[in-house]
Parts: sequence; C-alpha cells; structure tokens
Amino acid sequence: ISTAGGVDRYAVTQREASLEILPGVRTPMWTYEGVFPGPTIEARRGRPVTVTHHNELPVPTVVHLHGGHTTAASDGYPTDLVLPEGWHDATHHQHEGHAMGAMHDPRAVVTKLTRDYTFPMIQRPTLLWYHDHRMDFTAPAIWRGLAGLHIIRDDAEEALGLPTGSRELPLVITDRAFDGEGGLSYPSLDPDLRSRPGVREPYLAGVLGDVILVNGAAWPVHEADAARYRLRVLNASNARHYELEAITDDGRRLDLVQIGADQGLLAVPVTHVTLPIAPAERYDLIVDLSGVPVGGRVRLRNRLGSGRTREVMAFHVVRKAPDPSRIPPVLSHDLPTWDRSDAVRVRDFSFRAGRMHGGHGWLIGGLPFDPARTDVTTRLGDVEIWRFIADVHHPVHLHLVGFRVLSRGGEPPGPHDAGLKDTVSLRPGESVEIIIRFDGYRGRFLFHCHNAEHEDMGMMANLEIV
Ligand code: C2O
Ligand code: CU
Ligand code: CU
Repeated sequence: ISTAGGVDRYAVTQREASLEILPGVRTPMWTYEGVFPGPTIEARRGRPVTVTHHNELPVPTVVHLHGGHTTAASDGYPTDLVLPEGWHDATHHQHEGHAMGAMHDPRAVVTKLTRDYTFPMIQRPTLLWYHDHRMDFTAPAIWRGLAGLHIIRDDAEEALGLPTGSRELPLVITDRAFDGEGGLSYPSLDPDLRSRPGVREPYLAGVLGDVILVNGAAWPVHEADAARYRLRVLNASNARHYELEAITDDGRRLDLVQIGADQGLLAVPVTHVTLPIAPAERYDLIVDLSGVPVGGRVRLRNRLGSGRTREVMAFHVVRKAPDPSRIPPVLSHDLPTWDRSDAVRVRDFSFRAGRMHGGHGWLIGGLPFDPARTDVTTRLGDVEIWRFIADVHHPVHLHLVGFRVLSRGGEPPGPHDAGLKDTVSLRPGESVEIIIRFDGYRGRFLFHCHNAEHEDMGMMANLEIV
C-alpha cells in the first residue's frame, strides 16, 4: 500500500497458490496475493482507493467490488477482462461454444493486461467484498478462491464504542468440496479446464460443499475473551444459505444483536435469536461472550445444515478480561428515508428457471443475460420501486446502489430486512418489494441473482443509468 496524493493505492497479483486449508494437505487455488480470502483492503470514507490488479492466472479475470459505490469503469463489468500475460485471442475464447455461453457482443469486450480499479469510497462505512465477475465463469472462479474483504471505516463509527481491535472479527463463511488429494472439487465450466462434458445440469441449483470454511479455515476454533465481540459476517458461499445461531455448552442460545446490514449501520440495534444469511449478504453482529465461563465454548451453528455442515465455527473462551465496549441505543442517523410517495416508477421482475440456448438456465423476466441488451434504463437520481417474484431461493443483488426492503410476501419487511442492503434474499415463491434511489454515477451496471451458478447460467441483467 502507498498513500501518495490522497489516494490509497494497493497492488494485487492474482496467482495460483497451494494453500493449507485442511490440516496437513495442500489445496491448489486461485488467489489474490497467494492467500484465501484475499488481502483485506482497509479504506477510510471519502478517501479514494485504487487497486491495481495484475493477472498471473491462466484465464482472464474481472474484479468487482460488491457493495461499492463505484463508477461503471471500475465496477468490473463481466466482459471488462484483465487478461493474463500471453493471452492473445480473448474474443475467440469468448465465442467458444461452451454449454451456457450467452450471446456475446464482441464490442462489449474490453481487455487489459493489468487494470486499475478506482473506488471513490463516498459511501457509508461497511463491510464490502471483492470477487471475480467474469462472464459465465464467476462461480468457478470464486470457488477456486477469488474473493476478499474491503472494509470502509469512518470517525463517527469508531466513536460509537463498539468492540474493536482483536474483538472485531470479520467472518467470511464459505463451503467447499475437496477431492481425495486435497484439491477443490468443482465441475469447472471453463472449456480450458473442464474435465467432463455435460456437467452443467447437476449444478443447476448451485454448487454446495460439505466442508464449512471461516476465513479460509475448516470449522475453526477462535480463542476468545469473555467479552463482547463484533462479528462482521459475510456469506461468500456460491449457493449455500445459512441460518446462524450461537449456542453455549449448556444449550443456551446467545442473542445475535444486529448493528449493521450490507450497506452499513442500522438506525437502532435489532436482536435476533437465529439469523438467515443468503449468499453475498452481510450482517454486522454483536455477540456477548461475557457470561461464558472460562474454558467454555460457544458454537456458531447453521440450522439449515445437516451432519457436519451444521457446524460453522466455535469460540473457546480462554480468559476473563475488561470490556470497555458498548452497544449504543442509536447507531446512525443517515439512513435514507425514501418512501412509496417518492417513487417515480414501479418495475416487476420474475426470477425463474427457464430454457436458454437449448438447455436449462435461470432467467430474469423470461430472458437470460445478454451484454448487448439494455434491460432497464433509469435516470440518475430517480427513486423506483422494484417488485421481485421468485420460483426457488434467489438472493438478488444490485450493483452501485443500496436499497431498503419495503415488503416481503405482501407483509411489512421481516426483522432481518432492516437497514440499507444491496442483496435481498427471495425465498421460494415469495414476492419482495424494494425501494432504491439511483444515485452517484451514470453508465451501465448490473443486477443479478447471487447464487453464483444461477448468475453464470443467465440470471443477470443490465441496468443503464442515464
Ligand atoms: Cu457480488 Cu455482481 O456481485
Ligand atoms: Cu455487486
Ligand atoms: Cu438464483
């Protein structure tokens, strides 16, 4: 990192590395800087960050800052490729007839050998993540390791007295499957890497693993103080949903006090007993371990899992220690207040399975993703209501902007829908309304399902802000 000229500069090399994910075994991965998750970028609100990505992987990549309020040029459009050295014919590769290739528009393909991504960081402090976003290949690239955290902080949040330092823990939760040699098992869809033809159908629902990783370690145990912890949870899994609970040795559930959502602090804390978290969602939680005796454990479990996918991680309380932290009754005052009367239009989108290119795919409004088609055009500054309806579970994500959930299943939003979000979990058969203001930048952005396999299989659309 360098901080010259008021810009924080990072350089990230994307490269292959063999990492010890399971004890005593080496797992070949695709990484940012040789680590998984990638290096955490620490940003200050209002201070731009430039990240120079250099691609030493064998395939083109794209970097997207999820939740970033970012110009279109740095948003990681799926055809804005960072080519590896010696990769001469990107458009040829783009047109290669892999099973689910959407119609590519060669004019949309922008290629570079290295790329500077610039993030203005004019947005509420929160936990963002960066990940690969290459057209049709996002899911296998994330699975292989291309994901990392990007945290935005500011003075106001730091003045709240929340747990900090070693008591603030980002938790990147993922699931992975391993083969007998320790390699990741994924049916790669990349023509250069695909080992079996016709692998698409079994993965229609999304790829799941049977090993739960937190920050790249399988079922870790964290040595903790008997004190409050701030857990900044990201579900970075391709397709797995979790419902988290924190359970003590004597079977008590600890409160999960939510202080923030995808796009930063809530107005006031919301207490949960269990917490559903869909792919790409983030929850900022306070868990109080002060009542746990030294030597005791608190297990973070997934109520939706079975067998070993029921366990996520554990906290082993090893010492009593003073705790100066607090949870203020009011957390923030700057949440948007747009309401139905501010909306200038209402749009409807269905998220459903369907036929595409002769096979099965996932469609928005009956159509698979096509980079050459503009699906939605809106004006900078407009407030809109978007209504979603889902067939199966679809976590729906909008680039660039945060939104509020207005209703769920025709009822007021649930307790987990509080605050400003960028990803909303649609449950099977459910309708959800959100309200958004298209602030910030003109240009072409995306919205899509964040089940990463659904996204690769067509469930993505273009949003043009004019
Ligand atoms: Cu995290 Cu377009 O995605
Ligand atoms: Cu995003
Ligand atoms: Cu989906």
